[in-house]
Amino acid sequence: MDKRLVDEINKQITYEFYSAFLYLSMASYCAENNLLGFENWFKVQKDEEEFHANKFLDYLHERDEHVIITGFDNPPEEFTSLLDVLERSLEHEKFVTSRISLLLDIAYEVKDYAAIDFLNWYIKEQTEEESSFKTLIGQVKLMGDIGPGVFQLDREAGTRVFTPPIA
Ligand code: FEO
Repeated sequence: MDKRLVDEINKQITYEFYSAFLYLSMASYCAENNLLGFENWFKVQKDEEEFHANKFLDYLHERDEHVIITGFDNPPEEFTSLLDVLERSLEHEKFVTSRISLLLDIAYEVKDYAAIDFLNWYIKEQTEEESSFKTLIGQVKLMGDIGPGVFQLDREAGTRVFTPPIA
């Protein structure tokens, strides 16, 4: 594979694990603020991010490339509200989408059609992730950050389960 593409996929593995830690930090904020349903929701999100990271890792091995595991900065731990958590999640997902677009740009540039096929899965996944955060933000804005409405949302968030996406 093209070296630049391999390097950027290795970086992406780090970003995906960082995402997992970010969502774990958000799950902790929710737990500490009695939003146990959203604590569950963000823990499931953490599982999804680990799935994304491992999918990249397995792909590099499949293509006979070297995987580099690195550390990363601490995720934020201070949040002001559930809405703040959700808005920062959406902002983060937009960043991840820009990263996947960069990988795809390189894959097209070097005509790596197998990588293009592989990366298209992430494009679809990012659209779904951004959309689910946008929906939650809209719902929290409608119901308010506190009050009976958010308890209903929290209850629904508590039913989320991790189902490994079909590759
Ligand atoms: Fe792995 Fe939330 O993007």
